[in-house]
Amino acid sequence: MNDSLRFPDGFVWGTATAAHQVEGGNFRNDWWLWEQMPGHIRNNDSAAVACDWWHRAEEDIALAARLNMGAQRVSLEWSRIEPRPGEWDEEALARYRRMLESICAQGMQPLVCLFHFTLPQWVAGRGGWENTWTLDRFARFVDKVAGEYGDLVRWWLTINEPMVYTALGWVMGVWPPGKHRVFDAARVARNLVLAHAQAYHIVHRHRPDAMVSAAMHMASYVPHTPGARGDRIVAAARHWATNHLWLQATLDGVLRPPLGRFQRIGEAVDSHDYLGFQYYFTYPLAFAWRRPTNFFIQEMVDLVPGAAAMMGENRPEGLYTWARWFSRYGKPMVVTENGLLETVERQRPAYLLRALAALHRAIQEGADVRAYYHWSLVDNFEWAEGYAARFGLVHVDFATQQRTVKRSGWLYAEIARANAITPEMAADIDPALVGELFGSQGALSSSAGGDS
Ligand code: BGC
Repeated sequence: MNDSLRFPDGFVWGTATAAHQVEGGNFRNDWWLWEQMPGHIRNNDSAAVACDWWHRAEEDIALAARLNMGAQRVSLEWSRIEPRPGEWDEEALARYRRMLESICAQGMQPLVCLFHFTLPQWVAGRGGWENTWTLDRFARFVDKVAGEYGDLVRWWLTINEPMVYTALGWVMGVWPPGKHRVFDAARVARNLVLAHAQAYHIVHRHRPDAMVSAAMHMASYVPHTPGARGDRIVAAARHWATNHLWLQATLDGVLRPPLGRFQRIGEAVDSHDYLGFQYYFTYPLAFAWRRPTNFFIQEMVDLVPGAAAMMGENRPEGLYTWARWFSRYGKPMVVTENGLLETVERQRPAYLLRALAALHRAIQEGADVRAYYHWSLVDNFEWAEGYAARFGLVHVDFATQQRTVKRSGWLYAEIARANAITPEMAADIDPALVGELFGSQGALSSSAGGDS
């Protein structure tokens, strides 16, 4: 009783960021154009400066090291590296090299994502991922950067959250290109399977021992009324469509409808060396006759105040559910993102303890989770939510670029140093957490979703 929750030796603690959200100055991608149109971004914010990483990344990387981080996730902005078709920007390539070298020099391991939601304008202008033409262009980009950085980077992610990207851009229309066209959405999701598969093999050609996966967004869908058959059916259907379909295609190579007509893509078969997943939200769903355009689904979500409709309930135990669920595939796992939106920090420290206790419980039960990346190191440009939605362990004053470590940041640093959650840490945040996390019942029971 009251023993610390120790993580396995060698467990990797990190934080995650993405190029457009932190760098500033990305004027050549599709998001930049989108941000220029009034009404697209809350408060009409834009990523013009963001966290100014193009000039200050090293300072934040050093801060991450001071917070005992062992790894840093970043992404490469394609529109900087290849501003015009076939034209490589040597300065941008050198800048990313310095950034990655500084991660390594701080004793951290880089995890590099190849596509995190932004496309060069010259690619988006030709239909982006709707167009198979993009596949060859992306392959060329991946070949270039894997060649450039393969000596520094062993851990890679191909595509970030393919189904979130597809749903928000082509179904809900709240991200570029702002469409409501499900058939195009299916084409985009299919092309992202192919993009992932080819990137997987290209990275391996440059670095045979590379560890490559995609960053899959796992949302927990639970029936609003567990006894209601309709609610159970819509929860299971949405789980299948948004969590399962794309992943399955990159495991057995089969493009099931609506991604395709059961064609088998050889390159896509078993195209993960580990499984990267990220978890934020749980959505209670109800069957609703009146909502045919939402696939007969009513989201019964207690929204986080001030958050966009897409965001669900924060149930930290979802990490347990997903780590257990992914165990069925017999591969190592990495939590590539997890975090909490709070404009002013209140709940994040307790959330962090609960989420990590849930992850610990899954590991105790045999889940082979090797690393956890918190989203995010610093507050940053939260897409359509702009700067109002803060996810950072470190507060950023966007007027002065001043950084202040939040309580959650110090707590996470302690956890990483100890490689454990201790009762003292929990008591310090909230004495009630000690019983909840260390009591005889063990950490958190599972009630968040999936079809486990
Ligand atoms: C994305 C990040 C985003 C975070 C918080 C993930 O969906 O990969 O870019 O900032 O969630 O919403």
